[in-house]
Amino acid sequence: MASGGVIRGWGTALPEKVLTNDDLSAMMDTNDEWITERTGIKRRHIGGTTSSLSIESARKALAMSGLPLESIDGLVLSTTTPDRTVPATSASVQDALGLRCGAFDLNAACSGFVYAYVVAHGLLAIGAKRLLVIGTDTLSRITDWSDRGTAILFADGSGACVVEAVDNGGQLLGWDIDADGSLERLLYADVGGYIHMDGKEVFRRAVRIMVDSAQKSLAKAGVSTDDVALCVPHQANARIIDAACRQLGIPLERTAVVLHETGNTSSASIPLALFDAADRGRLRNGDLVLMVGFGAGMTAASAVIEWRQP
Ligand code: UT7
Repeated sequence: MASGGVIRGWGTALPEKVLTNDDLSAMMDTNDEWITERTGIKRRHIGGTTSSLSIESARKALAMSGLPLESIDGLVLSTTTPDRTVPATSASVQDALGLRCGAFDLNAACSGFVYAYVVAHGLLAIGAKRLLVIGTDTLSRITDWSDRGTAILFADGSGACVVEAVDNGGQLLGWDIDADGSLERLLYADVGGYIHMDGKEVFRRAVRIMVDSAQKSLAKAGVSTDDVALCVPHQANARIIDAACRQLGIPLERTAVVLHETGNTSSASIPLALFDAADRGRLRNGDLVLMVGFGAGMTAASAVIEWRQP
């Protein structure tokens, strides 16, 4: 499949303020042992706005790409937590970065970054040349800090990349996006309200949803899990990641996990894990990477990409 884009530069951003499991224990009836055992999370970063974190990660991505600002012809910001209802947060980000290009927000919850990356390839297929793709969430703003069922999980962060069109096929080999709106009640936040979640039911479905989506992308790419050098799953819960990777037959040594440091940052989750792996030199030219996420909606998204060094 010739999908025509390659990541040229990337960047991430996390708020300075760190909230540890012990900090949470002082706020509600929970403890480090329970949170670590049930989720894998040890600490998370809280603060900032969706625009400020997006601007920070995007500046790094643009600088790394070395591309002139005027060459960027589109900005897609995946977020569930826009700064305002109107206009889209991408408008503020575009202005602060000094870009003049199409800009829009996309909300597919925790599957959002992969959705945005796939949508960007749709734009490349119809003539766009260089796109900024950002995944940012500030879930701390819609978290009920007295609800131990959600407050232990959610946090803030951002990841961004520049995707550039190339002539001879791109790095995207297979993709899948899906949603089942009938499951809306399992995970939602009303306008101005907090996140409500049926954690057990989301957990139960998450593994199957991730495995199904990953298998569809792998089949479209014509590869198997043995060919995957690195799996980058949504950073929701270490037990969900373990179970999904076990079912897919991908050992944990070939899986990117940062959730012990970040918590669940929704749209930022997959880019934070992917670019952490890239920054640590875990990816080499030609490596196949499987990104796979799930989230409210209930959405799912996955993509198999061939890593190419910028
Ligand atoms: O991006 C997608 C976002 N959502 C998710 O990925 C959520 C998926 N679900 C989960 O990650 C897990 O369901 C949770 C981490 C939310 C909960 O873990 P669990 O293993 O499903 O726990 P549980 O709700 O079955 O609760 C087990 C016990 C209960 O006590 P009893 O009834 O056994 O006495 C809870 O009251 O643990 C208790 N409990 C807690 N204890 C200490 C629930 N939350 C806590 C807590 N600290 N924070």
